[in-house]
Amino acid sequence: MEFYRDIVSTLLNGVDSEKGHAAARNALHLAELIPGGLKVVEVLGTPSHRRLNDPRLAVTLGKNVEPHLQVKLDNRMILGAGWDKGGISAEAWIKALGAGGVEIGAVLARPQIGNDKPRQFYNPRGVALNRLGFNSPGMWEVVGNLTRYDGKGLPIGINVGINNDILPAHNDILPAQAPQAFAEVVNCLYAFGSWFTINVSSPNTPDLRTLQDPKFLRDIDQAVLDTMRQRGGIKPTYHKMAPVPDLSKDAIEEIVKVTRENNLSGVVVANSTSNESTKRLFGWEGQLGGVSGSYHQYRLDTTTQIAFIRHLVKGDPDFEIHGVGGINDFSSAQEKFQAGADVLQLVTAVRQKGPGVIAEINESWVRWMDGRRIKTAEELEDDKGSKTDYFRQMFTGLNKT
Ligand SMILES: Cc1cc2nc3c(=O)[nH]c(=O)nc-3n(C[C@H](O)[C@H](O)[C@H](O)COP(=O)(O)O)c2cc1C
Repeated sequence: MEFYRDIVSTLLNGVDSEKGHAAARNALHLAELIPGGLKVVEVLGTPSHRRLNDPRLAVTLGKNVEPHLQVKLDNRMILGAGWDKGGISAEAWIKALGAGGVEIGAVLARPQIGNDKPRQFYNPRGVALNRLGFNSPGMWEVVGNLTRYDGKGLPIGINVGINNDILPAHNDILPAQAPQAFAEVVNCLYAFGSWFTINVSSPNTPDLRTLQDPKFLRDIDQAVLDTMRQRGGIKPTYHKMAPVPDLSKDAIEEIVKVTRENNLSGVVVANSTSNESTKRLFGWEGQLGGVSGSYHQYRLDTTTQIAFIRHLVKGDPDFEIHGVGGINDFSSAQEKFQAGADVLQLVTAVRQKGPGVIAEINESWVRWMDGRRIKTAEELEDDKGSKTDYFRQMFTGLNKT
């Protein structure tokens, strides 16, 4: 009998998904505050009862930024945005559960309650629907939370969103406050973030995805980058994009083009999907929200999107891709790495497999490297993108109609 799968997960099936999630997050937070708490989490939460540290898995983010602003991760597995929106459990994930880093957020300038509850749902097949709608304690509370981590050198990314009332961006008119709203959060959290992700792809904030259009994205980037320059230099910065089929092939190309023109570090691929036929498969037809997790078509769509982008930027090894979408074990993580992602993120798999899922993936990765006699991080790097062509051929992104 497996403790998480057979007992905890079964019990959680009877609990509101958002409440179960909050309880897990609060438990990790508490462990950070109690002396010896992180050790207990490490022993109970990882498959080998200790956090694995293998130098072959180490990676540096932000190859295009000044060396002192680059980010060194112990491994390539990141807890993705949405699991810890306020930044209260990052130390537990990194120091006890073996994550290479944590992307907190989305963080907004002002507190926002989000959509009406219930707004987060889980299907036992490992798939989630959420329409949280950018619930955020606001950037000042997040500053308070992250201050606790001062001097600990934790690699924490900040997923940056904007308050609902800044939008809608309709009729091709970008609300004048949108670039400043992103920049305001970056300014406030500059000292606390190792990297920043400009989130223009949450499906739950009406019209947010419109901001993926280059004519808006350029102004947002300029505001964010100007702020960083004034604060001491540009840190690794990414655009987070929607998946196919929500986004067309042309739109993906345009986002990548703007990312390169503005010399951002890369892209996070991808957010959850609002595709209606995917929702229907899980009984969520007609419901607002984004689907994520281990549904095979979503996993494949995000993998082939990564391969498509890696091919687009071939010849530019500094362009970084965070691969996200349906990762829940080593083979799904390796799939995205071999498609061309530099690092991997996961969220829904924490609910499906438990908090040991990142350590489990890293342990399998180490066993795989041992079997292949891979001795250094550089040798592992050779495997990145080894199946870009294979997955690119399966890319199904459509042109804009
Ligand atoms: C409950 C929940 C909340 C999320 N909140 C955010 C968010 O605030 N910002 C964001 O960029 N992505 C958010 N996401 C999307 C995830 O970061 C990720 O892109 C998506 O879930 C796909 O990864 P997965 O299949 O591993 O879950 C959220 C996902 C879930 C399940």
